[in-house]
Amino acid sequence: MLVSLFFLLALLSPSRSDPRIYEAGLLCGNATAGMTARKSGGTDPSYVPRFVKEMEVLSQRMATHHFATHFIDSTVVPIYVLSQCHRDLSQTDCLLCFAASRTKLPRCLPSLSARIFFDGCFLRYDTYRFFEESVDASRDSSNCSSGLGSVEGPDRPKFEESMSYAVGNVTEIAGSGRGGGFGAMEVRGVYTLGQCWSSLSSGECKVCLEKAGEEVRRCAPSREGRALNAGCYLRYSTVKFYNDGGKAEDSNNSENIYLRQISIGVDRSSLNFKYETLEKATNNFEASRKIGQGGTGSVYKGTLPNGQTVAVKRLVYNTRQWVDEFFNEVNLISGIHHKNLVKLLGCSIEGPESLLVYEYMVNKSLDHYIFDKNKIQTLNWKQRFNIIVGTAEGLAHLHCGCKVRIIHRDIKSSNVLLDENLNPKIADFGLARSFGPDMSHLSTGIAGTLGYMAPEYVVRGQLTEKVDVYSFGVLVLEIVCGRRNSSFIENSAGSLLQMMWRLYKLNSLCEAVDPSLEGNFPREEAADVLKIGLLCTQASAADRPVMARVLEMLLLTKGDSEVPEPNQPPFLSARAMGSASSTTSYSTNSLISNGATKMATFYTSSECSSTGSKSHG
Ligand SMILES: *[C@@H]1O[C@H](CO)[C@@H](O)[C@H](O)[C@H]1NC(C)=O
Ligand SMILES: *[C@@H]1O[C@H](CO)[C@@H](O)[C@H](O)[C@H]1NC(C)=O
Ligand SMILES: *[C@@H]1O[C@H](CO)[C@@H](O)[C@H](O)[C@H]1NC(C)=O
Ligand SMILES: *[C@@H]1O[C@H](CO)[C@@H](O)[C@H](O)[C@H]1NC(C)=O
Ligand SMILES: *[C@@H]1O[C@H](CO)[C@@H](O)[C@H](O)[C@H]1NC(C)=O
Ligand SMILES: *[C@@H]1O[C@H](CO)[C@@H](O)[C@H](O)[C@H]1NC(C)=O
Repeated sequence: MLVSLFFLLALLSPSRSDPRIYEAGLLCGNATAGMTARKSGGTDPSYVPRFVKEMEVLSQRMATHHFATHFIDSTVVPIYVLSQCHRDLSQTDCLLCFAASRTKLPRCLPSLSARIFFDGCFLRYDTYRFFEESVDASRDSSNCSSGLGSVEGPDRPKFEESMSYAVGNVTEIAGSGRGGGFGAMEVRGVYTLGQCWSSLSSGECKVCLEKAGEEVRRCAPSREGRALNAGCYLRYSTVKFYNDGGKAEDSNNSENIYLRQISIGVDRSSLNFKYETLEKATNNFEASRKIGQGGTGSVYKGTLPNGQTVAVKRLVYNTRQWVDEFFNEVNLISGIHHKNLVKLLGCSIEGPESLLVYEYMVNKSLDHYIFDKNKIQTLNWKQRFNIIVGTAEGLAHLHCGCKVRIIHRDIKSSNVLLDENLNPKIADFGLARSFGPDMSHLSTGIAGTLGYMAPEYVVRGQLTEKVDVYSFGVLVLEIVCGRRNSSFIENSAGSLLQMMWRLYKLNSLCEAVDPSLEGNFPREEAADVLKIGLLCTQASAADRPVMARVLEMLLLTKGDSEVPEPNQPPFLSARAMGSASSTTSYSTNSLISNGATKMATFYTSSECSSTGSKSHG
């Protein structure tokens, strides 16, 4: 009875966690990759890919820490990054807050510097080593806006005094050795939190918070105020917003109960797997059984007690909110059956980590066939065509064949698995949705693989099904040509997209077809398929066909239907795009061949001169 009473109480008062993903300020620097390039007479095509990599490095560190810095040197533009969670956040909430900041910050690209302040964390990148910077006269700011209104009338002087005391005390605590850069306290109903970045000394921290204190005191009589400085964050509010005791733990109790609750639901479902069963099936996730590594976790080959071979995916995330979404997702994708989608057999969420169980594909992933130096086997034209059509069918089904629209986000050759008859099946599609930016608290930021990512997604985080269409287009070109992408890699002549476009303009697409086919392919059909690949990789998302249309075109290539003429992919020079874009600042570099500036050009040209892209030739 005691146990069930406890259970009930715990259910009634779940300790709520809050990653405090409220944006208090976003500051984009005013120097852009394009402008710098012009001034210095060069370009830095590697900027955006390096930026994405930096964020990856930070993510890994922030999974277990509250603070991280990193930098990659570069002869052109170095990138320094710093990320800090407020100390009272649990590690889980810290990661969620970081993920949200990481999703939003790229909005500042192609700026070479930016900082974003959330109420739970901070993220900044810049071109110089700013880690020890405490104040910045031109960029420090305060945000006094609040939904709480202000304290007027006779209470006002007392309120201002309390606030001033609270701010003063927090500054003292955080700026002294004992606070270690963090302080939070209440004085007569005014709650205040101060956080310095961990790279600051206590002296620098104090300088920063003292300035911040002056700034927020000017917010009175507003019931809330925030100072957003180069080296610290300070906030007061008449509503409590921080966690007591310095740091919230990811409570085991409520988590477990929550999970148990879910398990009750799952127990009834045929999708349930026992953790122990899967542990055993994979021999304790033995390294030699690892068959893949995806964005959301690693995959192991396992054998169930009944002898069935399965693929078991270990998921990186295991928080309460996440588990909730995860279950919606499992329910959602378990209802999706299609011959070109890898089937989900079940899951396990009771153990220390969440696991997904999929059908096992004997013939590995497509990349082993088209890129490997020691190819397992050279695919003939018919097999390649079949794989392209099957993948298109699977994607079309995800996009509109089922109840809920699913965007995969990471279509690439290693996510296309092959069954015993070399029929393609798309893997890893379910989690795509719950990690989407429309649910910012779950998003890990821009996910995907360079070379396959649509430009509007990399730069702006704009996620539509056209992002998948773009990746599919790259995949088609790769399958037919038997070589890798990538428009991002610095090798101006070598980019697959660029090469294809050049050949298209010369009306000799077939020259790109994989030489290992030794000419054994129908030329017109191959040219049509390549043209469809180019249609899918057009710079403007609106120009790209939807998957249903792609499929229709593919199936008609054998007839005499006309495949429309594609517009250019997103890499061509500003010069080529015509004069209409020359009014904008960073699109006027003479010949932009790659990377960040390439995408900047793409944006200015498609926004400022939508006809520009068609007028070149
Ligand atoms: C100030 O903070 C509020 C509350 O988070 C936010 O909505 C607003 O956008 C911020 N103002 C600025 C200028 O960033
Ligand atoms: C860029 O920002 C700095 C402050 O960081 C400011 O002093 C400068 O005037 C700005 N330049 C332009 C062109 O806006
Ligand atoms: C800290 O708060 C107390 C009242 O709670 C006040 O007397 C004291 O002056 C404050 N200290 C600072 C440095 O503001
Ligand atoms: C939660 O459980 C883990 C492993 O069982 C343990 O290491 C950790 O200290 C626990 N945390 C709390 C807050 O009890
Ligand atoms: C695909 O799998 C089947 C069944 O295991 C096998 O017979 C066949 O050789 C495999 N094909 C390739 C190309 O590996
Ligand atoms: C193709 O893209 C992948 C993934 O981004 C990358 O690792 C690889 O280096 C690229 N290959 C070429 C030849 O550009």
